[in-house]
Amino acid sequence: MGAVVLRDIEKLYGDTIACTDINLSINEGEFFTFLGPSGCGKTTILRLIAGFVQPKKGTIHLGRRDITNLEAEKRQVGMVFQNYALFPFMTVAGNIEYGLKIQKKSKKERAERVEKYTEMVGLIGFEHRNISELSGGEQQRVALARSLAIEPKVLLLDEPLSNLDARLRDRMRSELKSLQKKLGITTIFVTHDQTEALTMSDRVAVFEKGRCIQVGSPEEIYAHPINSFVARFIGDTNLFAADIKNGTASLSDMVAISLETQASGRFISIRPQDIVFSTAQDDRPNVFPAKVDTIQFDGSSVEYSVKVHDISFRLTILNTSTLCHNITVGEDVHIAIAEKSIKVLDS
Ligand SMILES: Nc1ncnc2c1ncn2[C@@H]1O[C@H](COP(=O)(O)OP(=O)(O)OP(=O)(O)O)[C@@H](O)[C@H]1O
Ligand SMILES: [Mg+2]
Repeated sequence: MGAVVLRDIEKLYGDTIACTDINLSINEGEFFTFLGPSGCGKTTILRLIAGFVQPKKGTIHLGRRDITNLEAEKRQVGMVFQNYALFPFMTVAGNIEYGLKIQKKSKKERAERVEKYTEMVGLIGFEHRNISELSGGEQQRVALARSLAIEPKVLLLDEPLSNLDARLRDRMRSELKSLQKKLGITTIFVTHDQTEALTMSDRVAVFEKGRCIQVGSPEEIYAHPINSFVARFIGDTNLFAADIKNGTASLSDMVAISLETQASGRFISIRPQDIVFSTAQDDRPNVFPAKVDTIQFDGSSVEYSVKVHDISFRLTILNTSTLCHNITVGEDVHIAIAEKSIKVLDS
């Protein structure tokens, strides 16, 4: 049983609250991601699950077993550290074998597992190399093989892709994901990269300042962020403080947007792809005259910044439309914002 349940977990370092009020249930076989900015407590929670630090309060269960006070070596949890933490003076095989020696596996079993996991991560032929003779991507694979070799019930990955260049990161992302699915191993993946979180995860937990503020599928979190922090952190957005009443959000004296709901709140969030160019003849609500401020071409899409009176909006248009090429900086245009794409947020 590889389900992980954290109940009311809190960890302090001196006066610093590293994490508090953490209640999470991670399902067996799930690819679960912790997403949040630097210092929000992601590594601390992994270390608590692995048993390298103890919580001030709360419990941790792995399957039915309460592991809160169990020694790290007995937890059947594998961890790939943020900086890999490989043993620099050992070979690739020596690193992969390390946890198996701690577990006092027989020589034969150790050799079999080293071969199996070296092959799984694509490092056959590298067994006798020293760690200092490997690239960043190869080191990342050794770290992964080392943590998989003990055949843990739970795999903890602390920003394993952050040291890799963009192309290798893309490749490792899909390799890691397919390996995880193949092994069916419960995996907690830490990142502060929203693309990684959205593309790889079954569910994502978003953290801010030691607290978990939202848990959901990537689609849920993207479409229904619980507050302005999540809306900004997951995907690009136009976020405005607004005076919201009677189904209208006033962004300034000059700009008022009509809403689909009568909901109250303090902010509105509109994704850049939910604003489109329109015409003066468009008689839907929320069509505004605007002036184009900047145009940024990014290959597959074009980002426009336009001004409606004193308020700037960003629009992203896929680079398939001939419209993209006709619009120029300084031009007078119209934009349309669909009411249903506007999210009203309390905080
Ligand atoms: N050993 C420690 N001693 C004292 N404070 C610590 C220790 N480890 C972490 N902290 C503090 O606890 C908080 C959470 O740290 P943590 O390493 O969990 O953050 P993180 O989300 O993993 O950040 P990053 O994305 O930068 O890795 C931070 O304020 C950090 O300074
Ligand atoms: Mg960290």
